Amino acid sequence: MLGSKHILLIIGGGIAAYKALDLIRRLRERGATVTPVLSRAGSEFVTPLSVSALAGRKVFSDLFDLTAESEMGHIELSRSADLIVVAPATADLMAKMAQGQANDLASTLLLATDTPVLIAPAMNVRMWQHPATQRNIEVLRKDGIGFVGPNEGDMACGEHGPGRMAEVPEIIASIEAALREGPLTGRRVLVTSGPTHEPIDPVRYIANRSSGAQGTAIARALAALGAEVIFITGPATVPPPEGVSVIRVETAKEMLAAVETTLPVEVAIFAAAVADWHVSSASDQKIKKTKAGLPRLEFAENPDILATVAGMVTGRPGLVIGFAAETDDVIENATAKRARKGCDWIIANDVSHATGIMGGSENAVTLITAAGAEDWPRMGKDQVARQLAERIAKALA
Ligand code: CTP
Repeated sequence: MLGSKHILLIIGGGIAAYKALDLIRRLRERGATVTPVLSRAGSEFVTPLSVSALAGRKVFSDLFDLTAESEMGHIELSRSADLIVVAPATADLMAKMAQGQANDLASTLLLATDTPVLIAPAMNVRMWQHPATQRNIEVLRKDGIGFVGPNEGDMACGEHGPGRMAEVPEIIASIEAALREGPLTGRRVLVTSGPTHEPIDPVRYIANRSSGAQGTAIARALAALGAEVIFITGPATVPPPEGVSVIRVETAKEMLAAVETTLPVEVAIFAAAVADWHVSSASDQKIKKTKAGLPRLEFAENPDILATVAGMVTGRPGLVIGFAAETDDVIENATAKRARKGCDWIIANDVSHATGIMGGSENAVTLITAAGAEDWPRMGKDQVARQLAERIAKALA
């Protein structure tokens, strides 16, 4: 699958470095050539000997290694690969990348390269959540760096939360996706998906029945055609697809912020069932039953993410696609919605309870473009997604 592909693997310093050894084996099993670069901190966790033995090649580890420099300079090293993978990507290495520092071999290679870069972050939960790291993530996403993980779970440091490095099969799936050749190779696409949760208090929220199935299927279908997919998802019940950069959000406001961070993209598909309102009277503490009577919730309108992006004067994606979830006068309402929101295409579907579409596995959609309305027969959500991805590829060709 990865035959003839050359991957430059930078191993950062973290306990997850041990997974990089298995990653090398699995990549080589698939026919890839792996040139390993071991950071100084990385060599505290795995030895250069194990890395080079598994890679079957010399491991690069020092910027001022003159022998290596005469054989292959670090500039050439950074550009000879089809993809650079950083696993684990530590908070420190990500900070260096975001700031463009070049004070060791790993950061110098990352600054000198014009090759696509995929990173698998791994760090303590607090470090991941720290505003400084979050700022760096934003910068790196804007720079077009691909992400795989981190996952949520128990960590070697004893804490629980996001920060665990993605597992080797997930990293492999993202590498394969990044190297996949197809009609959408080199195209950067954004997909929003799932419901949003709007808090009432720390334990309660307002939500909707969206499972995220259609958005997930669309992201998967686009990645299968070679697109670089950034998948921004609310708390969906369907797991996100492999091989895409996942950004998890809860509220509409967070979803808009994630979308703005991700732009520019060539295509943006808004499949999320975004809540139209949030509770403006949301409480920081759990609302208790009192003798004073029932609680009263005040609502305020959420930002319309689709309309915001479709209305952008500079940096608007070339193709903006929305969904219209309707229960009656589907085509008429959706056609009006396309005009009102300013998107290029709208995919209308009937979400009346009787259709079983919301939360179900099938969809019956009508594609509405400037040219008019086109009914698609009822089919699986995966099939709708494939048909849409092909349509997008055709439109961009
Ligand atoms: N959408 C959005 N941000 C919102 C609301 C909706 O981006 N705050 C997007 C959805 O992702 C979808 C499209 O707008 O692509 C239409 O969503 P829908 O719920 O059908 O429309 P509404 O804006 O809720 O309009 P209405 O109240 O008329 O149904």
